[in-house]
Amino acid sequence: MLELKSISKNYGDLEILKIIDLKIKKSEFVAIMGPSGSGKSTLLGLAAGLDKPSSGEVILDNQTISNFTENQLASVRSEKIGFIFQNFQLVKNLTALENVYLPVLFQKNKVEDFEKKANLLLEKVNLTSRAKHFPGQLSGGEEQRVAVARAFMNNPKILFADEPTGNLDLKNGNSVLKLLLDLKKENGTTLLIVTHDEKVAKLADRIIKMEDGKILPNKKKK
Ligand SMILES: Nc1ncnc2c1ncn2[C@@H]1O[C@H](COP(=O)(O)OP(=O)(O)O)[C@@H](O)[C@H]1O
Ligand SMILES: [Mg+2]
Repeated sequence: MLELKSISKNYGDLEILKIIDLKIKKSEFVAIMGPSGSGKSTLLGLAAGLDKPSSGEVILDNQTISNFTENQLASVRSEKIGFIFQNFQLVKNLTALENVYLPVLFQKNKVEDFEKKANLLLEKVNLTSRAKHFPGQLSGGEEQRVAVARAFMNNPKILFADEPTGNLDLKNGNSVLKLLLDLKKENGTTLLIVTHDEKVAKLADRIIKMEDGKILPNKKKK
């Protein structure tokens, strides 16, 4: 489903990621762990086509997306990728509900259909009562759950999540985790999740440990 071929990332003279190779199968659930600053978010962004590697190739669902134009990337993202950002990235002047269906708004369906699905997703993350609220009126944990609901709106083939349970209490963390696992079970969605949460990592098929811009030698579960 996803292959990173000798990718690296530099910012000026700074070598952020050093030659990384990684293959992830369809429906696999992979957790990325490692200390702050080790390059986890950078790796996720490259894998999801939000950013380009300095060298190497990113192949997603048989397409070499690292060579794609911005327009091509935008359509890949809207068709098959879900992304949950570490800092949520909600649009401030849209309601929770509108934020959830924003990723599919360009599609030619009726807005009522979008609303219906977005409402269902908000229900799954226990936010029905906050649908008409704006991000500024929500707590950090609520914003995070809106971001989670949004990532599911396009039924992604692959979901990238950067510490999706990081700001959540036990109850909401568990409901987000359940949502991720349901998605994988129902749709065979591939999951690549950066996490510090041992509970999330325990549920993964495979754990990847990063340090200093590199992936540490494989440690298989089971
Ligand atoms: N746009 C950027 N410009 C310069 N340095 C960056 C940029 N983004 C990230 N970095 C640096 O890359 C390193 C890895 O960052 P990041 O991928 O966010 O790590 P992690 O998610 O593991 O905490 C950090 O040292 C960070 O300061
Ligand atoms: Mg990070």
